Amino acid sequence: MQICKVKNYQELSRKAANLIAAQVILKPDSVLGLATGSSPVGTYEHLVAMYENGDLDFSQVTTVNLDEYKGLAGSDEQSYRYFMNTHLFHKVNIDHAHTYVPDGTEPDAEKACQAYNELLHKVGPADIQLLGLGHDGHIGFNEPSDHFEDETHCIDLTETTIQANKRFFESEEDVPKQAYTMGIGTIMRCKKLLVIVSGKDKAQILKQVVQGPVTPEVPGSILQFHPNCTIIADEDALSEMTI
Ligand code: GLP
Repeated sequence: MQICKVKNYQELSRKAANLIAAQVILKPDSVLGLATGSSPVGTYEHLVAMYENGDLDFSQVTTVNLDEYKGLAGSDEQSYRYFMNTHLFHKVNIDHAHTYVPDGTEPDAEKACQAYNELLHKVGPADIQLLGLGHDGHIGFNEPSDHFEDETHCIDLTETTIQANKRFFESEEDVPKQAYTMGIGTIMRCKKLLVIVSGKDKAQILKQVVQGPVTPEVPGSILQFHPNCTIIADEDALSEMTI
């Protein structure tokens, strides 16, 4: 794991965008694994700005997203498809047919997960996968568990995650209780991983992810075993660690 310490969220976003941009410049038909949540918002803003300046071309890029709430359609403002469309896809010259997010409208979990796995096998492992970190150590929506799941699966969201994500919904009851998520195995097979972590509220869990034992109880800890994993974290997120 390579840890890149930055001052604050602004610097984190700039650096993460630069690394993704470098990937696209070097390989215009890259497969980008993308993430949602508050952490990547600034990164996407910078990528959009680079596109607007004529420095970045997304026309040959394919994207695969980590996860989606079960039961939410792409037209729902809280869905991750909607998030991706508004923060990135509708603002750059990407071919929308080449942007993939699990289908939250498919009520049959087995069907939804199988379809996404087939897609992931077809497009291949992402050249670079962007990851945020949940307060309970989840990556994608791989919640703490007694084992690591290999491929896409349906997950029951933990109380911590529901509490953390309710800020985006009108009320707690509106937060979906399940999600479809890419598995840990799929994430680990990506060529490069780029993890972005910001804020004091992530300091304790980041320390466990980086310096604690590798265990499915802290899903992000598996990243210690990835051969090409970069963590960009700000001073607040690193405040519990001496690096
Ligand atoms: C969400 C998403 C994750 C994200 C994480 C952290 O629930 N499923 O992909 O990385 O939680 O979110 P945030 O960046 O808002 O703290």
